[in-house]
Amino acid sequence: MTIPTRILFVGATGSIGRLAIDEALRQGYHVRALVRDAAQAGLPDEVELAVGDLTRLETFETALDGIDGIVFTQGSHASAAMVEAVDYGAVRNALLALHGRKVRIALMTAIGVTYMDSQYNRTIEAHDWKRRSERLVRASGNEYTIVRPGWFDYNDDDQLRITFLQGDTRRNASPEDGVVARRQIARVLIDALGCDEAANTTLELVAEHGAEQEDLKPLFAALERDPSDGIDGVLDEDNFPLSAQPERVLDDFKAVELVR
Ligand SMILES: NC(=O)c1ccc[n+]([C@@H]2O[C@H](COP(=O)([O-])OP(=O)(O)OC[C@H]3O[C@@H](n4cnc5c(N)ncnc54)[C@H](OP(=O)(O)O)[C@@H]3O)[C@@H](O)[C@H]2O)c1
Repeated sequence: MTIPTRILFVGATGSIGRLAIDEALRQGYHVRALVRDAAQAGLPDEVELAVGDLTRLETFETALDGIDGIVFTQGSHASAAMVEAVDYGAVRNALLALHGRKVRIALMTAIGVTYMDSQYNRTIEAHDWKRRSERLVRASGNEYTIVRPGWFDYNDDDQLRITFLQGDTRRNASPEDGVVARRQIARVLIDALGCDEAANTTLELVAEHGAEQEDLKPLFAALERDPSDGIDGVLDEDNFPLSAQPERVLDDFKAVELVR
């Protein structure tokens, strides 16, 4: 694996994106942030801004120039259409704009993402679109780490031991599924970029009682890697058949696989 040096942050102005940028700067990466409005971005001076609209493919044609890593933390709650355009659409657009050039990817989705929105009786479809974005990343042939965090900042004071799970079996849709500090999510996303052992893995991220580890490499090394010919996480339940996906999603898969 080649360790990236120039990272594009998508969702840069969000609660996780800002912390991930701080961590990336601390670790010595060159940071470019995709933002809608430079005047409102409020990011550190060292950050290079790329102004654009993540729902548009053209934005990424320029934002990705010279970039060899991408961290995705964007998200919308506005409507099912916006979740599709933002959570999924930004990943799709970035992958297509790469035209087959390979980058290292860290994608944040959510714990419980493989439990379909129809099972939760939800209409916003956030899980289903996030899961489709995961699948596009796996299909793209880029090296990636997919991080599915538990509930943000619900940790007890002594609950800092970073823990990786696989199989996405916690499905209460409440903090019972696991909690993790926003700062820890940012750390895991950035540590993954520079860690060979993290390549092509999918993990749920929670914190258990105990101290935070100095080095996350042993945790990444203990993970099972995703199969190179699959589109789901290695231990994910097979409950989201391709045959049931919208035609436009299947077209995106074909387009991403074509430039693989
Ligand atoms: N809260 C939890 O416990 C929890 C647990 C697991 C996973 N998650 C997932 O984490 C995500 C939230 O992360 P967060 O707290 O960092 O989010 P956030 O603070 O709401 O930030 C969202 C980012 O996405 C961008 N964005 C949203 N809509 C956009 C649009 N229409 N066009 C362009 N950019 C847009 C925002 O840009 P602007 O600043 O320009 O708006 C911002 O950079 C959600 O998707 C959620 O499902 C949450």
